[in-house]
Amino acid sequence: MDRYAVFGNPIAHSRSPFIHNFFAEETGEDISYEKILAPLDGFPDAVRKFFSEGGRGCNVTVPFKEEAFAMCESLSPRAEAAGAVNTLIFRDGVISGDNTDGAGFIADLKSQGVRIEGARVLLIGAGGASRGILFPLEAERPASLFIANRTVSKAEALAAKCSSVPVSAGTPADAAGTYDLVINATSSSLQGKLPGVPDSALRGAFAYDLMYGADPTVFLRHAEECGARGVSDGLGMLVMQAAESFFDWRGVRPDTSRLTGLLREALAKEQGGAR
Ligand code: ATR
Repeated sequence: MDRYAVFGNPIAHSRSPFIHNFFAEETGEDISYEKILAPLDGFPDAVRKFFSEGGRGCNVTVPFKEEAFAMCESLSPRAEAAGAVNTLIFRDGVISGDNTDGAGFIADLKSQGVRIEGARVLLIGAGGASRGILFPLEAERPASLFIANRTVSKAEALAAKCSSVPVSAGTPADAAGTYDLVINATSSSLQGKLPGVPDSALRGAFAYDLMYGADPTVFLRHAEECGARGVSDGLGMLVMQAAESFFDWRGVRPDTSRLTGLLREALAKEQGGAR
């Protein structure tokens, strides 16, 4: 049986073991998957120990994605672009890194029938979560992209990296206008706060929050009140990014269709929330 794990700090509430064990059963792959709490100052050592004991790969979550990036001997182009790694693969003694977050996000939007090509997109936030989805988003060729962030210099720095779509940057309050897709990639929902974009930006748009929880986030509730044409939290993205990691390790694509619903039921029972 091949061993896999997710490393993070904290890690207790991670859904990844549930997801990957479901995939293993569904595909007939003989794997085990555990969660490992790495010390804040000891992530690379914890991963190397796991690989020396037979681990074949792992997921990496907050706050270690940049450290995982730094310890890779080879990187996928999308990990390189994101500057962060959520999937490590250990093969023939070599540690390789991938970032499946953006692909998971795009796959979830597509599964909900949301068209990105030609869309006017507002991306709120300029931290790690935004960086992880920015380049896959750009590759879908939206008509325009506005990156809004409380600290405007971070939005400007991200915008400067986009070259293939018309892009602008500003504060959330600067994001007045109409959009087809508005993405909340800030951590404001964790604090129960709104990210501060004008109500008009949400009217008629599809609103997506990378956060998820048992109940709709405060951002999604507000978007509905403003007349959004649809809303989604990030639970489907969690499932889709996991499926991409599973494919990296096993070369098999699991069927994800039932899993988001099962996780939704589990969340409702526990009333927990995370990203
Ligand atoms: P993550 O990995 O979750 O992206 P991060 O890198 O710390 O975490 O980034 C958090 C993002 O949420 C940032 O864009 C942050 O804005 P600042 O760069 O100005 O700090 C944004 N954010 C957090 N709380 C917010 C709030 N209450 N309103 C608006 N933006 C918020």
